[in-house]
Amino acid sequence: MKKLSDILEQRISQAIETVTGQEDCPALVGGSKSAKFGDYQANGVMAAAKKIKTNPRQLAEQIVAELDIDDICQPPEIAGPGFINLRLKDEFVAGRLLEINSDKDRLGIEKVKMPKTVVVDYSGPNIAKQMHVGHLRSTIIGDCISRMVEFEGHTVVRQNHIGDWGTQFGMLCTLLEEKVHKASKDEGLLNISQTLEDLEKFYQEAKLKDDTDEEFAKEARAAIAGLHHGEEYWLNSWKDIVRESRNHYQPIYGRLAVKLTPEDERGESFYADKLADVVEQLEAKKLATKSDGAVCVFPGDFKNKDGDPLPFIIQKSDGAFLYATTDLAALRFRINELKADKIIYVTDARQALHFNMLFETAKMAGWTDNIDLTHVTFGTMLGTDGKPFKTRTGGTVKLKDLLDEAVQRATAVVEEKNPDLPEEQKKEIAQAVGIGAVKYADYSNNRNSDFVFSFDKMLAMEGNTAPYMQYAYARIKSIERKTESKVDIENELAGIDSLTFSDEAEKELGKMLIRYDQAIAVAAEECRPNYLTGYLYDLAQTFSRFYNACPVLKAEADQRVIRLLLCDLTARTIKHGLTELLGIEVVEQM
Ligand code: ARG
Repeated sequence: MKKLSDILEQRISQAIETVTGQEDCPALVGGSKSAKFGDYQANGVMAAAKKIKTNPRQLAEQIVAELDIDDICQPPEIAGPGFINLRLKDEFVAGRLLEINSDKDRLGIEKVKMPKTVVVDYSGPNIAKQMHVGHLRSTIIGDCISRMVEFEGHTVVRQNHIGDWGTQFGMLCTLLEEKVHKASKDEGLLNISQTLEDLEKFYQEAKLKDDTDEEFAKEARAAIAGLHHGEEYWLNSWKDIVRESRNHYQPIYGRLAVKLTPEDERGESFYADKLADVVEQLEAKKLATKSDGAVCVFPGDFKNKDGDPLPFIIQKSDGAFLYATTDLAALRFRINELKADKIIYVTDARQALHFNMLFETAKMAGWTDNIDLTHVTFGTMLGTDGKPFKTRTGGTVKLKDLLDEAVQRATAVVEEKNPDLPEEQKKEIAQAVGIGAVKYADYSNNRNSDFVFSFDKMLAMEGNTAPYMQYAYARIKSIERKTESKVDIENELAGIDSLTFSDEAEKELGKMLIRYDQAIAVAAEECRPNYLTGYLYDLAQTFSRFYNACPVLKAEADQRVIRLLLCDLTARTIKHGLTELLGIEVVEQM
């Protein structure tokens, strides 16, 4: 079914056009601030009146007279200088609820008519290092955006732009080689364990050696040259490192229910042979120039603090390419090969300048005509002390440890709430609640704000948290469980084709439920998961009000049907939002 806000916008805009003869006067329909003004409000009349220099209130009256909307709304009311207030008809709300009910998979939400190909670049860990909390935000925010855009009906191509190419791998490979040789000499076997923890330590060691040991540094340079020329020996060693890293982050994606697969991985190394061409093309277009030996583009009006033009460096004086060059090559690949109409990059806000300069450079080169480029940024994760989130000893928090602790703490919560559940079930709930809490806390926060990581807050049963939402779901399921012993809920709702409201609380919940499509559309458009969590939280609270006011199981037969339906649709909407769009599990019992 078509989105209600779109229908209202279209009908009222049409009426404005008929009355004023003006084509570009949008109705500007939004939800009403307060129920006493109705359910929706159109604010566009004032601007239209200004345009044709007429009295806005009178114009509003003419528009309302012209408006054909009584299949949806009660007679519109004009308020203030010319707002049009709309109140939905009960029959309309009831009809929508029945439509939603009949669509098990999509809750009545249509796919977009003109699907686009949207590349979403997220997570992007750097190999040979463990993932830390800094990667958590990109990973889960990017995943939610991908899920929402995909649900809308677009084709989403996920890209994991891992940092797998750089001079550091020359050092690391050299050190590994030394260790392997030494081990085979000393012990006669290659017993070098290469867990990611080991690799991280080796990397520190290699860096130190590179700075202090002339001979080592020379070998490391030879190694990186060998790697970059595709020499098999070095390539194999590097591949080992990539594999080990993947074995580390892929299970973390699994635990987080993040949909990135090894097939989505297209790291910096993939673009290595496309970098020289990027530089050549920009030089040929006279956009790149030599400056202090380096090849630079000076896009847009970016200035350094002295007011001088800021260079976007694409090749260093020693011939090496940079992060920027790789991103230019990736952008071209995504447009030309992956056929992207839109590319969304999800990284922390500190990379804003890089992406602004990247987008501007690509635009100057004429590579991005009609392509929508978006950098989705987010703030820093802070500890409860307000400082960047660190371990007690000041180290970076490893993602794995963080998730373990979340589940462990959730176990205590479950234990306290429901000590009599079977162990197996308690474990399952703790998993869902622990991981869900970490993700939901991040999602529910305005992503641009820095965000305080607090286990106590995210695991609270009250407030806009995962456990609250999961409990809201489980509670409705428990109502339904009680019903099933007497009546089968599916059966009870199966044949109904009309509903009658008998209580304001029912109506309020019904109107909330039919707005789910709008919540998704706005959250997806703005790349803001907190719009979705905000909607789900409102829904859960509206449900609470309804449930306090309206008995369900003890209601009279005709009331019972609509109330059961409202319960069921609320549960299905919460479940859909949590599991399909946020990737957070629900449990039937808590
Ligand atoms: N590896 C990068 C980092 O850790 C993130 C990559 C983001 N994507 C991109 N196309 N630059 O900061």
